[in-house]
Amino acid sequence: MNPSGSYHIKTIANNVEAEINRLKAQVDLFWQSEWKHYQEFGLDQAGSIVELGSGPGFLVEKLLVHIPGAEVTAVEIDPLLVEYAGNYLAKQKLDRWQVIEGSITDTGLEDDSFDFAIARLVLEHLPDPLEAVREIYRIVKPGGKVIVIDNDFEMHIMTYPPVSGLRELYDAYCKARAAEGGNPKIGRELPRILKEGGFTDVEFEIISAHSALLGDEMFFRSEGIGIPYKLVQDGFLSSKVLGQISLGWRKMIRDEHHSVIRQLYMAVGKKD
Ligand SMILES: C[S@@+](CC[C@H](N)C(=O)[O-])C[C@H]1O[C@@H](n2cnc3c(N)ncnc32)[C@H](O)[C@@H]1O
Repeated sequence: MNPSGSYHIKTIANNVEAEINRLKAQVDLFWQSEWKHYQEFGLDQAGSIVELGSGPGFLVEKLLVHIPGAEVTAVEIDPLLVEYAGNYLAKQKLDRWQVIEGSITDTGLEDDSFDFAIARLVLEHLPDPLEAVREIYRIVKPGGKVIVIDNDFEMHIMTYPPVSGLRELYDAYCKARAAEGGNPKIGRELPRILKEGGFTDVEFEIISAHSALLGDEMFFRSEGIGIPYKLVQDGFLSSKVLGQISLGWRKMIRDEHHSVIRQLYMAVGKKD
């Protein structure tokens, strides 16, 4: 197990730039559905938001654009991504943000500081997600809320017609992440973890994306081949299965009735 968890941008895929682009596409893919729920939970009324594990800053950008009244603090552990996010947000000519280098489990931020905290696609990579939720509880204001969003790889991308080999790919991904201390099936556990971390009024939502509504291109960009290639390189997946998946995927896309769906899992809790 890796004490720093199972997401390291330099090693999770075979190309850092492509992985950054994939993260951007993944924000775009779910934004419509996510924003609907963010509004329902009152995020659009927040004056101060912290995003923990903010990566290259693409969600921070969306929050700044859509919530003109909010100051957004981004906390990110990887210095490469802290620098990337700072440069990226400055280039968008946005203000009201700061990016700080730190861990979600020990942010160094003051108690009771934020109206909202968001941890998106981060808890699934941590050896001790509860430790992170307790730290989030500490820095959220009384009356404030947390939103956590993660995958559950039992319910990852599904297609019509089905693509054989996808289950083997997900199993290989889960083994690789678990070997580093992550849990790609954490989605189902999010409500319990928030409750154990002290949050109340916990709600749970499924965020979904469908190719018939968003187009195939959005899915191509948000998946990419970088992580599957790395699974082959690291011995978690055979190149033969990856080849079968590529062929099956192309065949599926050629079917005029094809569908691709993907879900994320969101839990929200309040600090009394
Ligand atoms: C899959 S990316 C998600 C980035 C962003 N939240 C998004 O939704 O696009 C996970 C991010 O969490 C960061 N991370 C991992 N462990 C962390 C920790 N202990 N503290 C802060 N950030 C962490 C990684 O470096 C990476 O940027």
